[in-house]
Parts: sequence; structure tokens; C-alpha cells
Amino acid sequence: MSLPEMNKIQTLLPQWIEISQQHSVLGKVASYIPELSKSPKEALGICIMDANAHTVSSGDCGFPFTMQSISKVFTLILALMDNGENVVFGKVGMEPTGDNFNSMLKLELVQPGIPFNPLINAGAIAISSLIAGDGPVEKSSRVLEFFRKLTNNDSLNYDLDVYQSESQTADLNRSMAYLLKDNRVLEGSVEDVLEVYFRHCSISVTCSDLARMALVLAFNGVDPVTGETLIPRRYVQIAKTFMITCGMYNASGEFAIQVGLPAKSGVSGGILTMVPGRYGIGVVGPALNPKGNSIAGLHLLETLSREFDWSLF
Ligand code: DON
Repeated sequence: MSLPEMNKIQTLLPQWIEISQQHSVLGKVASYIPELSKSPKEALGICIMDANAHTVSSGDCGFPFTMQSISKVFTLILALMDNGENVVFGKVGMEPTGDNFNSMLKLELVQPGIPFNPLINAGAIAISSLIAGDGPVEKSSRVLEFFRKLTNNDSLNYDLDVYQSESQTADLNRSMAYLLKDNRVLEGSVEDVLEVYFRHCSISVTCSDLARMALVLAFNGVDPVTGETLIPRRYVQIAKTFMITCGMYNASGEFAIQVGLPAKSGVSGGILTMVPGRYGIGVVGPALNPKGNSIAGLHLLETLSREFDWSLF
């Protein structure tokens, strides 16, 4: 991070957090997973990390939250590493849907009935089935190990209350998974696949964990702090392209215009984004807009991107 920019961000962040936080009242905390409704609506935190793991943090950056859909970027990468592109893109497409993240509309409407992309729920459930391993326990532990490596945090773990809360109430995801099985996208036990999916959605992180994961993507798969290659460059390229086209659900076009960075959000209010070649960024703000993105987090990222001219476009 260039020193003048770091100093400026550090100085300005507290007041920007305060301004962006005011937008939280306009949003709603996700409640369709009952445990998530306990999240503090007004919270807002950010961590920006550079290639030396120097961080600038502000607000509620120590607040733990579950990754939810942010995990889908990294399970996609693991599925690519386990199976290669041909297998993965035999099960999911490469196109945005324009529909809600949990829609199953196009699974019936458009043949051959495979999910449009790996970041909507149907696509991520299909991806969970492709993780290598003998059964859901081994598959899940491989995902957790991979995420621990990417965050450089050995104590990363599940929030089991959120896991159980989702598993007990996931009628829509369950029906979607059965439809996928009927469409020959999933094989074997639907419950086993869903266990892997609910588990990776329930991995608990802080903004700095997200920033470190994003940093690896910002440096094309190499952890710039350790110098270790964790992901092949081609798979980072695929993941970042999906983040631009589908990462913010059916608000990805708007985010590309207003912020202009690859990003992925989750219904717990997290947003992972990056300035390629420079910073990894983690944000959390549990109050969501109607499309399911953190309302205050979006405002904060728009402010930062404009001020520092971060848009790639
Ligand atoms: O499957 C669900 O509904 C959640 N575990 C994740 C949803 C989410 O974060 C938004 N997804 N694109």
C-alpha cells in the first residue's frame, strides 16, 4: 500500500464509516436463516490489506460473521482444482441470470437444465457435489482446510448455530437440489451434498480473514505475504470474472458501474473485494438492501472507489 494512500484511508475511514453506517436503517437483516436475524443491524466494519499484510481497519472489523455466498467463490476454485474446467462447466454455465440468487426458474425454463453460473444457489450446490472426498465429512474438511490456508488462519471454523439453523429451514434449497438431481446435475445423496453446502456457507470469519483471502485473488493466486502459490492463475481468472458478472447477485451490473471491482457478497452482510495487484478488502454490514447486498457496505465501497479511482473500467 502506498504510504500516502494508506495514511489518507486511515484518516478518512472513521468518518466515512459513520456516514455509510447511517444507511443501515434503510436495510433489513436476513431472517430466512433464523439465526442470522440476531446480527447487529447497525454494524459496519472494513479491513484493507496490502501485499505485506499491513492493514487499515475501521468500525466493527472484529465482528465475526458467516461467509454465506462468499464461500462460493472459493468452493468453485477448489472444484476447478479437483476436476478441471471441462467437468465443472459440464455442470454449471458461465452466464448471469438476472434473477434472485435462490431462484430455480431457469432450471425448468432453459435446457439443458444446468444452473446458469456457480455463484447462484443452484450453481453452488452443484459445485459442492464436485468437491473431492469420500462423503460429506471429508469433502467439508477439505474445504475448511483450503479456507484456512487462504486466510492464513488455522482456527477458522464453522458457526454451528448458523449451520443448523440453515439446515433446518432450507426448504427452497432442498427442493432446488432435488430438481438438480432429477436434471442429472447431482448424483447420489442430496442430503450429503447439502451438508457440504450448508457447512461452507456457515464458516465464520472476520473482515481481516476476507481481506487475506481477497489478497490471494488480487495477486493471481499467490499469497504475496508468504510467496506461496495457492491457486493456479487460470482459476483465479475464472473466479474474478464470475465476481464481476455475478458476484453481487442481480445487482452485479450496478456494482460494476458504481465500484468497478471484482466482488462477492453474502446474506450475512459480508462483501469480499479487491483492488487487483494492490489490496484485499473485507467488509461487513448485516443490514441488506432488497437484492441481498450490505446496504452500508455498498455505500462505503462506492465512496472508497470514487475517492481513490479504484474502478477497473
Ligand atoms: O443458500 C443460502 O441461501 C445461503 N446459505 C447463502 C445465500 C447467500 O449468501 C446469497 N447467495 N448468493
